[in-house]
Amino acid sequence: MKKSLFFVAISTKVVFLLCVYALFFVSLLHKSTIEAQIQPRIMKKKLSDIRKEYSLKTLDENDVLTDPYEQFNLWMGEAIKADVPEPTAMSLATVDSNNMPSSRMVLLKELKVEGFVFYSNYHSRKGKHLEQNPYGSLLFFWPELERQIRVQGRIDKASKEISDEYYLSRPGKSRIGAWASPQSEEIPDREWLEQKHAEYEMQFVGQIPKRPDHWGGYILTPYTFEFWQGRPQRLHDRIEYYLDDQEWRLRRLAP
Ligand SMILES: Cc1cc2nc3c(=O)[nH]c(=O)nc-3n(C[C@H](O)[C@H](O)[C@H](O)COP(=O)(O)O)c2cc1C
Repeated sequence: MKKSLFFVAISTKVVFLLCVYALFFVSLLHKSTIEAQIQPRIMKKKLSDIRKEYSLKTLDENDVLTDPYEQFNLWMGEAIKADVPEPTAMSLATVDSNNMPSSRMVLLKELKVEGFVFYSNYHSRKGKHLEQNPYGSLLFFWPELERQIRVQGRIDKASKEISDEYYLSRPGKSRIGAWASPQSEEIPDREWLEQKHAEYEMQFVGQIPKRPDHWGGYILTPYTFEFWQGRPQRLHDRIEYYLDDQEWRLRRLAP
């Protein structure tokens, strides 16, 4: 009897100790799993240690062209020549009716006398912002040339003729995409989008799809242009063009 009580006591102790060890290992495993999940979010490199000196070029008010459109064309030409990836990609900032700004990339498709032309869905988030607040800002950044250009102005819809002409110049799949994608709306999944695309492809088989009314051009008519050239010791060159009585004037801004 005594002997069996002894065995019960010993085995209870062993089971208890095994449970404690098991719990310990499970908690260790759990901790390392959580750490593994968190770790990728922690940037190992200290971002503030990343520094770059800009020294490629200079920008002087005596050298720039008097017309900012021409100055823009000059810099765009140099960006294309320098093989900057996506030289026409620009950040477009808009502001909603609650004064909340929002930015996204769009592609510059033309620079007209009226301004900078890009294309999008009129029902998208940017489209809704622009209906409520027709002002915006464009930003080009060409790191290979250590240059940025900021353009601020009023954004209006392009004419139907301009939009039609560009729409018809797009590749077939992109034309269908304008019908299939309810840009900026929540959709169930990727399959839903591909299904929609396939449905519109079937619908337009053998014909050239016409431009949907909700898709077309915008033109930003500039009020200001700012040309920025990186320089050593953060003493960058900034030349701003602004409108004074319909005339473009320029001034130097502190970096
Ligand atoms: C390089 C690049 C170019 C883009 N060009 C366009 C464009 O020309 N038009 C457009 O509607 N969206 C373009 N997009 C997608 C937009 O950035 C954005 O996701 C989309 O227009 C929806 O924005 P919204 O919800 O603010 O309206 C581009 C994205 C990238 C990264």
